Amino acid sequence: MIVLETRRLLLRRLEPRDAPALLAVFGDPEAMRFSDHGVRDLPWVEGWLAGCLESYRQRGFGPYAVVERESGEVVGYCGLTHHPDLGGRPEVALGYRLARSRWGRGYASEAVAALLAYAIHTLRLRRVVAQIDPHNPASVRVAEKAGMRYERDLLLEGYTHPDRLYVVTAPP
Ligand SMILES: CC(C)(COP(=O)(O)OP(=O)(O)OC[C@H]1O[C@@H](n2cnc3c(N)ncnc32)[C@H](O)[C@@H]1OP(=O)(O)O)[C@@H](O)C(=O)NCCC(=O)NCCS
Repeated sequence: MIVLETRRLLLRRLEPRDAPALLAVFGDPEAMRFSDHGVRDLPWVEGWLAGCLESYRQRGFGPYAVVERESGEVVGYCGLTHHPDLGGRPEVALGYRLARSRWGRGYASEAVAALLAYAIHTLRLRRVVAQIDPHNPASVRVAEKAGMRYERDLLLEGYTHPDRLYVVTAPP
């Protein structure tokens, strides 16, 4: 199911058949450099995909496949995850991760801008956050270009150093 279309990308609901394309991203040490968990394997990716399908059912949103229109390939994911307790409150968090071969083309900025507009204007979410490692300048830049602003540092259980919490809120 296609959720969003941008000039060069489609965002659609993930499906179990996307596991190999997602493994190419979650299994790449460079793409996982700022994750405290390191690279992931196929069983983990399959479990993550099952969680995405559950999120669509329960919430009506989730992480989405990012499809490059020109090639038709799944080049990563970008989407929203509900967290019952993120630093002491429920939050909807934006997440994105692309295949290294597609970095530096403005794809993340294109996907995130469209997704945040969808979150605020279509899903009517009041607030969306992004947890970003301060040493990940590309991700900080993507969030800031999409209009997110730094709110506070957040040290989550199991993490070795605090992330920065970026936030966008719906207009009053
Ligand atoms: C973060 C990520 C999604 C960015 O994807 P992308 O499609 O290359 O991003 P874009 O091209 O839209 O924009 C990147 C911006 O960061 C800038 N940037 C990239 N590397 C940078 C660096 N080392 N220092 C400063 N700025 C940098 C780019 O110049 C660009 O800004 P600009 O448009 O003003 O020039 C991609 O690198 C990725 O998947 N990384 C691994 C996973 C990850 O870190 N996800 C985010 C977790 S919070």
